[in-house]
Amino acid sequence: MSDVLLTEKLEGRVALLTFNRPEKLNALNAEVRRALIEALEALRHDDDVRVVVLTGAGDKAFIAGADIAEFKDAGAVEQYRSMQEGNIYSALEAFPKPVIAMINGYCLGGGCELSMACDFRVASSRARLGQPEVNLGIIPGGGGTQRLPRLVGEGHAMRLIMTGELITAEEAERIGLIEKMFEPEALREETLAIARKIASRSPIALQAGKESVLAARRMPLDAGLEFERAWFGLLFSTEDKNEGVAAFLAKRDPEFRGV
Ligand code: COA
Repeated sequence: MSDVLLTEKLEGRVALLTFNRPEKLNALNAEVRRALIEALEALRHDDDVRVVVLTGAGDKAFIAGADIAEFKDAGAVEQYRSMQEGNIYSALEAFPKPVIAMINGYCLGGGCELSMACDFRVASSRARLGQPEVNLGIIPGGGGTQRLPRLVGEGHAMRLIMTGELITAEEAERIGLIEKMFEPEALREETLAIARKIASRSPIALQAGKESVLAARRMPLDAGLEFERAWFGLLFSTEDKNEGVAAFLAKRDPEFRGV
């Protein structure tokens, strides 16, 4: 596997994927995008992994955006095609296991969009986030215009996309762009603790919860409620439901197997 993206399997059925081009602030290029698609494909089928955490190498950046060097000679057709093949944002959103963005520094442009395609975001207090594409005469192309307003509301999304300004982690937490903030020294352990807690839950319930929440984006309320009820009913056919209920009644910890 390519070294622009490192995969580590950690204790507690958690996989840590690290974007590894620190000298370029982990900017996303074609090689990184391909490596991410391949890594997700492998982790999807890996029963030893129940939760995936994404982060950036070094202490400066999560991802400072798409690799701007690739934009220089790109025309409309190449750019459109490259965005269609292996869409990392859709791949993350559709990934059946929980994915957490651990934002350790600059989280800009495509990096911010990638974090928004994860299920939730945890950041260092030193992180800076933003959609600075307008400075290059373009707009977010990895879902930013769609996912950002859903997270922070239309007004803040307009402000960030129109000014291109970077905001602090503190402001990002206040407006709902990140869900948790930790001091830089604590970020890794605190994030992995959250990931391990999630990984101890029933994988099938996690998938059902993720799919049901995501369904709300494309369905009116009545259809979304029906979707939720269908999953809820289906979970009553799983061994994990029997195990969860039995463990609660017996006052012991459940051992979920994902079946
Ligand atoms: N694409 C390609 N290279 C990038 C990059 C990007 N998105 N972001 C940073 N880099 C490179 C820099 O060119 C530099 O490479 P070099 O040492 O070969 O010159 C290296 O990463 C370090 O970045 P540098 O700009 O020197 O760091 P800084 O601390 O002075 O500034 C930022 C940090 C994030 C403010 C600045 O790098 C920046 O504005 N990056 C672009 C962010 C952006 O517009 N992203 C959206 C793209 S659509």
